[in-house]
Amino acid sequence: MDNEKTKKKKKSSYITTSESRKITRFNRRITKKLEKKRESASKDPSLYTTKMKDPENVVEFDNVCTYFFTDVGVVKAVDGVNFNIPKCSTVGVVGESGCGKSVTSLSLMQLLQRPMGQTVGGEIRFNKGDGTAYNIVNTPNSVMEKIRGNKISMIFQEPMTSLNPIFKVGKQIDEVIILHNPEMEKEAVKERTLEMLDLVGIANKEGVYDMYPHELSGGMRQRICIAIALACSPTIIIADEPTTALDVTIQAQILDLLRNLKEKLNSSIMLITHDLGVVAGMADYVVVMYAGRIVEKGTAREIFHNPSHPYTIGLMKSKPVVGQKVEELYNIPGNVPNPVSMPNYCYFRDRCEMRCDKCDGAYPPEVKIGDTHIVSCYRYIDKGEVLGQPKSVDVEELINE
Ligand SMILES: Nc1ncnc2c1ncn2[C@@H]1O[C@H](COP(=O)(O)OP(=O)(O)OP(=O)(O)O)[C@@H](O)[C@H]1O
Ligand code: SF4
Ligand SMILES: [Mg+2]
Repeated sequence: MDNEKTKKKKKSSYITTSESRKITRFNRRITKKLEKKRESASKDPSLYTTKMKDPENVVEFDNVCTYFFTDVGVVKAVDGVNFNIPKCSTVGVVGESGCGKSVTSLSLMQLLQRPMGQTVGGEIRFNKGDGTAYNIVNTPNSVMEKIRGNKISMIFQEPMTSLNPIFKVGKQIDEVIILHNPEMEKEAVKERTLEMLDLVGIANKEGVYDMYPHELSGGMRQRICIAIALACSPTIIIADEPTTALDVTIQAQILDLLRNLKEKLNSSIMLITHDLGVVAGMADYVVVMYAGRIVEKGTAREIFHNPSHPYTIGLMKSKPVVGQKVEELYNIPGNVPNPVSMPNYCYFRDRCEMRCDKCDGAYPPEVKIGDTHIVSCYRYIDKGEVLGQPKSVDVEELINE
């Protein structure tokens, strides 16, 4: 019996040569079509210029769907994601590995691995500050080059991979300033770089200016990456796991630095992490992602004082608390479903310890359980305003459009 079960399982994930050919043909057709559509949209400014729903937001993710057309099928990495990043605020995006946090931020930077990776639906609005906004999804590369590193900048997990090992760090900061301010005098550029080094808490700034990345410690290198990210006074900084590669004490220093900088500069931060502890002291708003969708979002207070989705509750239980002795940290049982064939019921159902009869139905709708607190779970269906389900894109329909 068991043998038969495993055979069946193997059979379901096995792709025959003809299926594989069909997938390749489909991927070629759809990516060609999407690239063509994108190209024509990017020629017409009216197609990539839009308006913010709320001018107080810097970024609005509006039902964003980013898919990868892979050799094994369509990976719906981000599927109907809705959230805003208000001006001068920190939004924490949390969730376990593979839930779509980085793909969300790469969609905003338009740094997806194209043509395989495509934002197939929704709008990503980026506030220009003049009453209009870019719809990043259709914005041409020539405009994106002016936005990236200038208005939207990024800090990555591993500083050594973001820095060029053969150039002195001072020159690397200079380069970013020159790229976006070609009219600036050489002395003024260096002065700005030294100012940035000062801002990120580097004591010996003149000495460090002439050092190579390998001469610095991990924490110092991450400070340099932050200086590069801040060099052009961006409106938003995306920090993707900025402290994961650092040891605990340095982690705390870098987080302190980011917190202080946010107060000094007029930037918002999109802080991506799998660690709820990091978000706790930093974020104003929290977005919890699971398998490409948002399962809960709200202010940090709402999420930490009243975690509602069973997944968020599980994440809270698996977070160590200082001064609290436990035999073993809680571990959410089971695994994330296969991204190529997502179920048509709640993605968390097979791991959920609180599931009920309703949970066998369609994917749960979003329910507003507080002013800013939204949760996608059947447990709350009678406890708030039902807003509707995240909208997915039917790729078969897309190809026949
Ligand atoms: N270039 C790619 N090609 C195919 N699939 C991809 C690609 N990049 C990401 N994915 C898939 O998209 C999903 C989301 O990935 P993503 O990198 O956003 O996860 P994450 O939440 O950032 O995880 P982590 O915490 O490990 O960084 C995963 O299932 C991943 O396999
Ligand atoms: S909808 Fe049901 S299965 Fe899904 S998280 Fe809520 S209680 Fe669990
Ligand atoms: Mg990631």
